[in-house]
Amino acid sequence: MSSYILAIDQGTTSSRAILFDRQARVVAIAQQEFTQHFPHDGWVEHDPEAIWDTVIATCRDALAKAEVTAEELAGIGITNQRETTLLWDRHTGKPLYNAIVWQDRRTSEYCQSLHNQGHAELVQAKSGLLIDPYFSATKLAWLLENVPEARTRAERGELAFGTVDSFLIWRLTGGKRHVTDATNASRTALFNIHTQAWDEELLQLFDIPASLMPEVKDSSCDFGMTEAQWLGTELPIAGVAGDQQAALVGQACFQPGMGKSTYGTGCFMIVNTGDTPAVSRNRLLTTIAYRLDGKPTYAMEGSIFVAGATVQWLRDGLNLFADASETEALAQETRTGHSVYLVPAFTGLGAPHWDPKARGAIFGLTRDTGIAEIVAAGLQAVCYQTRDLQHCMNDDMEASPGRLRVDGGMVENNWLMQFLADMLGVQVDRPHILETTALGAAYLAGLRLGWYRTLEDIEQLWRCERSFVPKMDEATREPLYQGWLDAVSRVRSTS
Ligand code: G3P
Repeated sequence: MSSYILAIDQGTTSSRAILFDRQARVVAIAQQEFTQHFPHDGWVEHDPEAIWDTVIATCRDALAKAEVTAEELAGIGITNQRETTLLWDRHTGKPLYNAIVWQDRRTSEYCQSLHNQGHAELVQAKSGLLIDPYFSATKLAWLLENVPEARTRAERGELAFGTVDSFLIWRLTGGKRHVTDATNASRTALFNIHTQAWDEELLQLFDIPASLMPEVKDSSCDFGMTEAQWLGTELPIAGVAGDQQAALVGQACFQPGMGKSTYGTGCFMIVNTGDTPAVSRNRLLTTIAYRLDGKPTYAMEGSIFVAGATVQWLRDGLNLFADASETEALAQETRTGHSVYLVPAFTGLGAPHWDPKARGAIFGLTRDTGIAEIVAAGLQAVCYQTRDLQHCMNDDMEASPGRLRVDGGMVENNWLMQFLADMLGVQVDRPHILETTALGAAYLAGLRLGWYRTLEDIEQLWRCERSFVPKMDEATREPLYQGWLDAVSRVRSTS
């Protein structure tokens, strides 16, 4: 009897495997962190073998914890850090270089030159994205230029490009499938979100041979069978989506206008726009929310590069506390109107500024500033940045959603959630299951495997654990937010 779905959640700082039952209950979780490599200022890399090893180890660990055998699995769903770029040998499966992580800024100059040549409009019209080092295209171009032999070998058809989902599927299927799903493809800047195909003009612009590209599939379909050597038996990979889109599915935001914000390493606010690939006037992204039966559903996205990573930096870089759970009590010690602002532009600023050269700063220190104020400022920065995105979304969509669903590790912090509701002036809903990213991948697999017939079946399973209602008056809120805008203007490299 197939009683479980195994969701692989390959994130930026750790790999996780989560076992779900048919009622979307978490049965077991396994997690392993892996090393982040920062070879130069603004560069971020992952060892692909560390990604692979931690994925396999956590899958095995989750099964062992639940005392479940692979025969009891209906199948596998995969969700992943998006945009992160890999290039590997089709013959040996060996990567030619480390994975270049989405946060990596090494292609800033290249992006600037593409801007200067006037290509921004074309890229946005076709891919829904902006020209920024964040997306895969310039990272892949960098690999082809800088890894010895890469371009000649790519032109001979010997190499494969993929985001993390593609790489994992390639390895899991023993090199039989070179595929990705439409949500991951929509983060490369090489995929035409209107025609749903790799775009020849974009491939040409970034000088990428088409032979490198994976086949693009629906988010819920047959992605191949895993080889028995990995988990003990062959299993179908039936659902795949980039982690932020998977969270949208896990949060059951299926109606146009419904949105969620996920607070992981970064923060990503996504609002479903249905059949319409809405174009932002405020430098937000148009992306694929999910693609089912060949039909794409679109979304608008605001991407903030650093959210939970601020807490990690306060803990590991500054040693201000030992465990992230201490931040709630520390923040509670502060006055609402303390003067400290922390702008966590460690890897530049994402939406709506898109300033890869900006760097972080702390402002407003006074003689009585202590650890609590700096920690609170780190948490508040996440809320202020969400407000930046909310402002853009409201303007673009000419509507203001009255509620926001939230998830990700940081949302367990009640102080943070209340400040978020206060800063946004809307109700913030925290669901019962916070593992929404993995849950979304499990749902997509479950749709294919016959566990759920329609999206309505999935909607029924969403439960609110706690709602946070705004309590702050405008006279308090607005000066606080103005202080943030002032702090951001001081770290910008451009105006
Ligand atoms: O676009 C990057 C995003 O997919 C990374 O997500 O959860 O690792 O911060 P996360």
